[in-house]
Amino acid sequence: MRTRRIGGTQVSAIGLGGMPMSIEGRPDEQRSITTIHAALDAGITLIDTADAYHLTAHDVGHNESLIARALASYAGDTSNVLVATKGGHLRPGDGSWTVNGSPEYLKKACEASLKRLGVDAIGLYQFHRPDPRVPYAESVGAIRDLLDAGKIRLAGISNATRDEILLANQILDGRLASVQNQFSPAFRSSERELELCAELDVAFLPWSPLGGISQAGELGSRFRVFAEVARAHEVSPQRACLAWMLAKAPVVIPIPGSTRPETIRDSAAAVDLDLSAGELAKLDAA
Ligand SMILES: NC(=O)c1ccc[n+]([C@@H]2O[C@H](COP(=O)([O-])OP(=O)(O)OC[C@H]3O[C@@H](n4cnc5c(N)ncnc54)[C@H](OP(=O)(O)O)[C@@H]3O)[C@@H](O)[C@H]2O)c1
Repeated sequence: MRTRRIGGTQVSAIGLGGMPMSIEGRPDEQRSITTIHAALDAGITLIDTADAYHLTAHDVGHNESLIARALASYAGDTSNVLVATKGGHLRPGDGSWTVNGSPEYLKKACEASLKRLGVDAIGLYQFHRPDPRVPYAESVGAIRDLLDAGKIRLAGISNATRDEILLANQILDGRLASVQNQFSPAFRSSERELELCAELDVAFLPWSPLGGISQAGELGSRFRVFAEVARAHEVSPQRACLAWMLAKAPVVIPIPGSTRPETIRDSAAAVDLDLSAGELAKLDAA
């Protein structure tokens, strides 16, 4: 498996997104565990999760606990797996998503994630989404405190603008390791944030890279050029999409979600798909 870097840590160039295994439509636990094990078998060493990936108010952190159980029951070596979680986004249990970026809350949320993941320090902790009621510098200040205290090994942010990326990197004294923003063929408005990450040598993790849980299967019919390029290489449109993203910059590490071994194996193989300059230009323009 080809690797890329988050801070000083090498991870697989494609990660596994955990969200579909814990929110609406989630599969049974055994299928999720089998999917996570298939990802590890394929050489994936980055798993993205969040405390907010759950359904009801009674199963907060469902996805973190699931990933901890999957790692514990894996027969192989998991010492090089980086689990990236997030805090600051909440699901009260009625289907809605809310935010809380107060430093006190973020520190409490991090402690709860540490317990669920069963680790002394979280591999990568990301501030999930800006809270309009809290100055951004204060929220990121809490992430810096967690880093300084050794509670987290790497610090990241998510759903951030260029200004927020620059501010976060300043507050973290140049230690911003990753930015996780939405980026897919259908949603390209973070292209400038991606470029900034490439300039700063900060990892850029596209979320919903295939268009999101309900749209991912239709990527080829919604974006014909992706289907055409995929056909020429005898691969799926989803694999072609991930290869296109990887080619954008060496800092890009897509995190496709999955609930089936077949889909994560197919996505992991994108690291070996090289697209020509002509194909990449066609996909950029699609
Ligand atoms: N930071 C944020 O605010 C934020 C927001 C949303 C998501 N995220 C993160 O980003 C991750 C990815 O986003 P997402 O899960 O919303 O959407 P996504 O990755 O665009 O789509 C997920 C769906 O893609 C399907 N899929 C994956 N690989 C495939 C392949 N090779 N061929 C065909 N279908 C394939 C999966 O189907 P099956 O279920 O059939 O396997 C899965 O349900 C999440 O899991 C989460 O970790 C972060």
